[in-house]
Amino acid sequence: MSTGGRPRVLLMHPILDPGPAILAEAAEVLAYPPNRPLDEASIRQAAEGCVGIVSQLMDPIRETVLSTPGLKCVSNVAVGFDNVDVAAATSHKVMVTNTPGVLDDSTADFAFTLLMATARRIVEADSFTRSGRFRGWAIDMMLGQDIFGATLGIVGVGRIGRGVAHRAKGFNMRVLYYDPQPLPREAEEQLGATRVDLGRLIAESDFISIHVPLTQETHHLFSTQQFNQMKRNAVLVNTSRGPVVDEAALVEALKGRKLAGAGLDVYEREPAVHPGLTPMPNVVLAPHIASATVRTRSEMSAMAARNMATAVRGGRPPNLVNPEVKK
Ligand code: DGY
Repeated sequence: MSTGGRPRVLLMHPILDPGPAILAEAAEVLAYPPNRPLDEASIRQAAEGCVGIVSQLMDPIRETVLSTPGLKCVSNVAVGFDNVDVAAATSHKVMVTNTPGVLDDSTADFAFTLLMATARRIVEADSFTRSGRFRGWAIDMMLGQDIFGATLGIVGVGRIGRGVAHRAKGFNMRVLYYDPQPLPREAEEQLGATRVDLGRLIAESDFISIHVPLTQETHHLFSTQQFNQMKRNAVLVNTSRGPVVDEAALVEALKGRKLAGAGLDVYEREPAVHPGLTPMPNVVLAPHIASATVRTRSEMSAMAARNMATAVRGGRPPNLVNPEVKK
């Protein structure tokens, strides 16, 4: 459990300053061996004797890991925690924490970046220009979709979804949203957002941006049926979790021109990308970097480290996702 009385924490991957110093003040920090696979059995082996694990979204933290004797806390350096089996953690009285709030603006910025890059074909245009194919202005060259005044459908109107709606105001967009939980009337008015059912959102939106957590209910929320209902000029943006979109169905829909394009930061089998997507010029692909700004990733690191330090010291971490474990 400890060496010389110091509790041990397993750090699955390096984090940014000031995270390491915060952790080191509270515990002896063991780094996960860089070449060891990220499977449950290997993580369990490395976690033996540790009271805490600082994990990231690619780490499968499930029953095998969570049943490690003496484990008290898993601090995930992400707002999403679908890589952690929270029910199993709760049953083993292991606290699970995440990093909400600090990444909302960076992620909303990036959703808008993907929306604009896809609508205005910026990646395609860049490679066209770099490769010397620009031989002069042409009236029909690289025609894209208008953003200003278009209809934006936001699926999931938590903090990040609201951030996207906020940005859409500057583009005079008509904003529809779908969320089982309605926004308070004042928030709807302030954001100029109208709640609709998912079918209507899909049928009326020129842009659809997904901001839901991955759960059983949201797995493949977008599949063939939804793509068939989309406007042919529509662009889909996903910065949430890959499995919310049925990637094979998306490839088929794009091939069948059921929608105009997609801007994706996340993938169903990350880090693998469906091979059908990579040759498509109307798809913009990013490597899960929506929260990747210097400020945000430092704040996520600090927040995750503080969550762990508090747990190690016997306290109740501020960002506990299973509060029933620690009253
Ligand atoms: C998260 O935090 O869940 C993002 O996917 C990575 O920042």
